Amino acid sequence: MSEYLSLSETAELVGKCKETLRRWDNEGILNAVREPVSNYRVYKKSDVHALLGNLFDDIKEEEVSNYVKPNHNYSVLELFAGAGGLAVGLEKSGLKCVALNEIDKWACNTLRKNRPHWNVLEGDIKDFNFSKYKNQVDVVTGGFPCQAFSYAGKKLGLKDARGTLFYEFARVVQEVSPAICIGENVRGLLSHEKGKTLQGMISILDEIGYNVVPVQVLKAINYKVPQKRERLILVGIRKDIDIKYEYPKPYKRIYNLSDALKKGELYDTNVPKSDGAKYPQSKKDVLDLVPPKGYWRDLPIDIQKEYMGGSFYLGGGKTGMARRIGWDEPSLTLTCSPAQKQTERCHPDETRPFTVREYARIQTFPDEWKFDGSIAQQYKQIGNAVPVNLGCELGYSIINFLNNYYLVKNQKEEIS
Ligand SMILES: C[S@@+](CC[C@H](N)C(=O)[O-])C[C@H]1O[C@@H](n2cnc3c(N)ncnc32)[C@H](O)[C@@H]1O
Repeated sequence: MSEYLSLSETAELVGKCKETLRRWDNEGILNAVREPVSNYRVYKKSDVHALLGNLFDDIKEEEVSNYVKPNHNYSVLELFAGAGGLAVGLEKSGLKCVALNEIDKWACNTLRKNRPHWNVLEGDIKDFNFSKYKNQVDVVTGGFPCQAFSYAGKKLGLKDARGTLFYEFARVVQEVSPAICIGENVRGLLSHEKGKTLQGMISILDEIGYNVVPVQVLKAINYKVPQKRERLILVGIRKDIDIKYEYPKPYKRIYNLSDALKKGELYDTNVPKSDGAKYPQSKKDVLDLVPPKGYWRDLPIDIQKEYMGGSFYLGGGKTGMARRIGWDEPSLTLTCSPAQKQTERCHPDETRPFTVREYARIQTFPDEWKFDGSIAQQYKQIGNAVPVNLGCELGYSIINFLNNYYLVKNQKEEIS
C-alpha cells in the first residue's frame, strides 16, 4: 500500500478536514479507493500530488490588492518583538515603529543591528511603564506567549490575569490607549483550556475599553508567504470608535518553495549561501531514501519501524516525520529548531535542513535582514516570527482602519 495514503494523511497533506475530503470524493474532486480489508478510504499518492500541484501552482486571474497608502504618519508600539518579523512587515506596509520591547538579548541585537534608529527596549515587559506613550501611539501590537489563567469567578478580570504575559499586553494597551490593538498567537489558543483562555482575553479587553472583532485565524499561504503557517489574530477597537475593522483579503496566488529559494516573483536572486544545521549521519541515511514531498511512509517497512519506534503503531498521519519538502509546494510550518524528529523539513534536493537564510526566506524576511547569535539562536528567532509578508498585509488592514478613523474624526472636529 505504499502508493496510497490514508484519509488522515491526505487531510494533513492538503490542509483540509476529513469531511471535506469525503465530500471531494463524492463530488469527484479527489477520488478515493477502498482498502480491500478494512473498506476504509485511501488515496493514490499520485492523485494527491496532482491535486496539490493544481492547488499550489495555479496563477489565478489578476488579484485585488490590500495595499493602501497611509494618509498620516501612523505609529506602532510593538511588544514581544522577537527578531522583528511583524515589525518589519508593519514597516513595509507604511507604519512607523516608535518602540519595540523584547526580553531576549539576541533578538534585541538583531533589531538594533538592522534598524539602528529603532527604539529597542530590552528587558522583561513587566519592568517597563509605557505611560509616556499615552495617546501618542495609534496601534499596540504583540505576540504574547500563551499561558493559562487561573479562574476564580465566572468572568475573568484584568487583575485575575496578573502574572501572565497577556496581562502585560492588556496593561500596556490600557496605559497607552491606542485606537486599535492587535494580538497574535497560535491557532491552538482557540482550543486552549476549551476556549476559556481566549474568552478570558476577550473579556479583559472589554473591561479595559476595547471591543474585540470576531477572531480569525489567517493562513500565511494566502498572504504571499510560501509556508503553511497560521496565526490567530485578536483585534481590539477602542470603544469610543465606531469604525469597522476588516481583515486583509486573502490572495489566490499561492507561493511555493521554489518561489522562496529561487529567483522569481518573491526574490530577485537565488537564495544566498549561509550557515545551517546538519542531520546526524543516522538520520541522513534514512532521509536519503525519502523523495521530495515524501515522508516516513515512503521508507522500506523495516526502516519505518526502526525510525518511528513506538509511534509506528500509534496511528495518525505524522506527516511531519522524515518529511522532505517539494519545490512545487509551500513549506510546512517552520519551527524553532530545524532538525526535530516530529517536524523535519528536509531540503528537496539535498539531504539537510534548510539553512538559516533559506529559513528566513520561507518566512519572507528580506535578504538584508541579518540575525544575531549562534546558529541555534538564529533559527529560533526566525521560527518564532510572524512572516514578514503576513505582517505587511495586516499592516495594510490597520492603515485602512486608521485612514477611516482619522477621516471621520477630522470631519467631526471641523463640524464642532
Ligand atoms: C512569538 S515571539 C514574537 C515574534 C515576533 N512578533 C516576530 O514577528 O518576530 C514571542 C517573543 O516574546 C518574547 N518574550 C517572552 N517573555 C517576555 C517578557 N517577559 N518580556 C518581553 N518579551 C518577552 C520572547 O523572547 C519572544 O521573542
